[in-house]
Amino acid sequence: MIEQYIKDQYTATAVSLSKSYGFVVSDIGKVIDLFRSVRHEKMGRLLSLGSGDGRVENIAARLFGFNVIGIELSPQLVQIARDHTEALDEVVQHTGIKTKDGTIEFVTGNYFPIHFRKKVQADGLTTFIEGHDPYTNFKIADFDFVYVYP
Ligand SMILES: C[S@@+](CC[C@H](N)C(=O)[O-])C[C@H]1O[C@@H](n2cnc3c(N)ncnc32)[C@H](O)[C@@H]1O
Repeated sequence: MIEQYIKDQYTATAVSLSKSYGFVVSDIGKVIDLFRSVRHEKMGRLLSLGSGDGRVENIAARLFGFNVIGIELSPQLVQIARDHTEALDEVVQHTGIKTKDGTIEFVTGNYFPIHFRKKVQADGLTTFIEGHDPYTNFKIADFDFVYVYP
């Protein structure tokens, strides 16, 4: 089952990633339960804010058929998420295992919209302001669901 391949792949790297990047990842079983509890005829489009190592996006697309865009501030984490996604693509190709065919795209940028960042900057705050504007080809209103684990 693709679920087991995703679990195995991300279990192997979770600890070292948390240590090097200092962030906490979502528990794969809990993410699966969460999406299972979402009763919706068509899983549609999912926006993932702070996509980290790409686990949520791979679960959402491959197990539930969401078309997913993940926004992530760290270019290194975007690369890691793309590498995981490529590795899982290869598993699917080589094993012929059945998956839902949702699409996955990772975009480097700051998920706080630019108008909000300009406002906090004008108010004298310096947090949350760096990073590309990821909302050049899509907007938050295009999506049916938003996932965030800040
Ligand atoms: C707690 S981790 C969750 C990662 C992943 N979504 C998961 O559930 O395993 C939060 C992620 O959000 C990213 N992040 C934090 N602030 C961000 C921002 N303003 N814009 C984009 N990404 C951000 C961090 O780099 C980190 O990868």
